[in-house]
Amino acid sequence: VRRFVVVGHEAPLDPGFSLDDLPGAGRLDVLCRCVTSGLLTSHGVRADATVSLVLGDEYTVRFEGGEIRRLNPDERSTGARIRDALAARDGAIGTMEANPSPGVYVGRRGLGATLDRLDGVVVELHEDGDPVVEVDPPEGATFVLSDHREFTAEEVDLLAERADERATLGPERLHADQAITVAHNWLDTEGFTRY
Ligand SMILES: C[S@@+](CC[C@H](N)C(=O)[O-])C[C@H]1O[C@@H](n2cnc3c(N)ncnc32)[C@H](O)[C@@H]1O
Repeated sequence: VRRFVVVGHEAPLDPGFSLDDLPGAGRLDVLCRCVTSGLLTSHGVRADATVSLVLGDEYTVRFEGGEIRRLNPDERSTGARIRDALAARDGAIGTMEANPSPGVYVGRRGLGATLDRLDGVVVELHEDGDPVVEVDPPEGATFVLSDHREFTAEEVDLLAERADERATLGPERLHADQAITVAHNWLDTEGFTRY
């Protein structure tokens, strides 16, 4: 399984946002694109991938590629899934997630608790990391990315403790969804070697 954890710093924590203005809703458009880059190919779904959106370090909305139904590539419909997940957030109690639709889960947990639930290698994707070609492409990896903001000081400390690798995908600073696409390609090609 390939897991992508994207930290949304300004994302809404309740469902009262407009689908007509996703950029105005704490740049939810960025997070929607991360979901589609993480889970969708041209005509298919990556059944072995998951995308977790950490919202304001309070809630995590998780999309499971192996379970999701009718995920479309447009941002608006993905935004609607996030809105439905937030509308179901009161059903997430303690460590128990709510599951408002197939393959969509919402839990009451921030970045630390989200990483606690995962096993395998944790790779922080960062512009200033080690070149990804110097890292063995890990199967079952969790990639952690930030949205349009820098990781906060607390997140930097947490990732310094928890991440096994801090890797850069290239010299250009990419959008988070673009970084997810390149990370998938890195794994798809076994480190840019198999085509
Ligand atoms: C738009 S960037 C973050 C914004 C940037 N840190 C800033 O404030 O100017 C979104 C995320 O994509 C990932 N990313 C972008 N470029 C990358 C690169 N060249 N290598 C690895 N990850 C990258 C990182 O996780 C980054 O936090």
